[in-house]
Amino acid sequence: MCGIVAYLGHKPARPILVEGLKRLEYRGYDSAGVALLSDGAVALTKTAGRISALEAVLPAEDAGQNIGLGHTRWATHGAPTTTNAHPHVDCTGKIIVVHNGIIENYATLKTWLAGKGCTFASETDSEVVATLIGHFYANPAESGATAALEGAARFEWAVQQALREVVGTYGLAIVCTDLPHVLIGAKKGSPLILGVGENEYILASDAAAIVEHTTQAIYLSDDEIVTITPEGFRTKTRANVPVTKELQEVEFSLEQIELAGCDHYMQKEIAEQPTSLARTLQGRIDLQNGRVVLGGLQSHLRTLTRTRRIILAACGTAWHAGLVGEFLFEQLARIPAEVEYASELRYRNPVIEDGTIVIAISQSGETADTLAAIEQAKERGALVLGVVNVVGSTIARTTDAGVYLRVGPEIGVASTKAFTAQVAVLAMMAIELGRRRHIASEHAADLLTELTAIPSKIERILDQGPHIRSIAEANIERNNWLFLGRGFNYPVALEGALKLKEISYIHAEGLPAAEMKHGPIALITEGLPAVFIATRCAHYDKIIGNIEEVRSRGGRTIVVADEGDEHIRRYADHLITVPETVDALQPMLTVVPLQLLAYHAAVLRGHDVDKPRNLAKSVTVE
Ligand code: M6R
Repeated sequence: MCGIVAYLGHKPARPILVEGLKRLEYRGYDSAGVALLSDGAVALTKTAGRISALEAVLPAEDAGQNIGLGHTRWATHGAPTTTNAHPHVDCTGKIIVVHNGIIENYATLKTWLAGKGCTFASETDSEVVATLIGHFYANPAESGATAALEGAARFEWAVQQALREVVGTYGLAIVCTDLPHVLIGAKKGSPLILGVGENEYILASDAAAIVEHTTQAIYLSDDEIVTITPEGFRTKTRANVPVTKELQEVEFSLEQIELAGCDHYMQKEIAEQPTSLARTLQGRIDLQNGRVVLGGLQSHLRTLTRTRRIILAACGTAWHAGLVGEFLFEQLARIPAEVEYASELRYRNPVIEDGTIVIAISQSGETADTLAAIEQAKERGALVLGVVNVVGSTIARTTDAGVYLRVGPEIGVASTKAFTAQVAVLAMMAIELGRRRHIASEHAADLLTELTAIPSKIERILDQGPHIRSIAEANIERNNWLFLGRGFNYPVALEGALKLKEISYIHAEGLPAAEMKHGPIALITEGLPAVFIATRCAHYDKIIGNIEEVRSRGGRTIVVADEGDEHIRRYADHLITVPETVDALQPMLTVVPLQLLAYHAAVLRGHDVDKPRNLAKSVTVE
């Protein structure tokens, strides 16, 4: 939610900020702005709308300032208007801020500041941060500064004092018109990375905005502040304790975040799955010995093998992967498991007994609800593992250990390649725990052989792209769809419905197929598209019965079935086939046609596939 980028260096800041904002646009895209600083003055340009709208209103001439801030917004407090767009300037006109996060006590702070004579232009919580810093910068003695603070020290002091008062989350980049060679960043709960180049620095919400300029970065931790000048940078805690940070190599390249000839990132990411999934599995499966080797979990194997219960915590698509995980741990490892919505788990009073392991699943590694659920589980003494894609993300660093997805950056707001990788990681974990606990080595080896064949099987599904598009086209006028599956394909039905909803804005419901007759069957009218996942799994005959129930009421069936299943043809108005595999691994195949169906439906309806309305890629607010 919201992307921030700031630059200090020897090059003109404006093109770097605008390019950085384009790369961060998937984080939020309802309004945008840049502030460029030169001696004692700030040039501020903001607008409602996307980065393209911002480019249209930027002055024709670039004055070549070497320091500036940029922001692309996903509105929380205040409508997406030009006034509410960032950067925000305090009422003294000296302090300029871009912010990602939520200031929970902003109303109280606003009243307090108004009492001191401060004024506000916007409805945002973020402007309160600028004003608070401005207040302490103008009145250092009020907050207990003993010596006569000047220059960068006074600016840093004001930021520290302001952040002591703030309750909530923030990734902040801040400049001061008195000090056009100083940039300050601060983090709590929202991500912030400092890219360190040759005499230049880029502070950003994520690495996508910096990789074009440098691959060296430091990842700020919560409650840390970084002060950057042309001479270098220093990091401290909010309480003024110096912190030494290690420079790290950013693990992805510019090519990985380009469209590479595709029309949309979602299209590219669906098509990438044979290679991305192969990377997830690479070097982790020892086929000869029928074992799985997950480096990140090695030191916890004993605890894992003895675990009495697994709780999987996640949101959205990652929750659907977690539901597959629940079934995998139960079936293959015989460990009681349940998936929880992180947003619910965090506010309950869950029983987390000795021997419970919590697995947090997240593509971005920044989802606020998942992070809060992790904190709660840790407080209760659970071992918390992460199944995360973004290397160095907050969840990756907060969990005790974990497994990376290794699928590279996922930029399309609709999650696709992360889902198949999340299921693959959970399958590897369940097979290995199963092998250590009760399943025969031969059975584990067979499952692993099947797992390594999944990437090439996905290729065969991708070949049906044009056919799947024609199915979307034939049903594009329909505004209500059902997705039905049983067993391991029930989570896939949920995922298919979510994909269709979020990018094509078509109402869709995902259900365990047998639940239909307990209510939703009332929705079936002539021509309603009902997508059935009806592979030859343990529930094959049962799901055919459910298809009959829909057909006899006039529903139109779109059936995902096994290659070579001739019997199923008579039940399908539209048929899509997937290569055969064992039940437990089917979700990695059966989800792919549903991703394609949603993609084509969104394109046919003329929607912006990668930037669906009201959504943002990583949900860093609760
Ligand atoms: O980054 P995370 O995996 O933690 O994100 C969780 C959800 O916000 C995410 O999966 C969301 O549901 C996607 N837009 C679904 O396509």
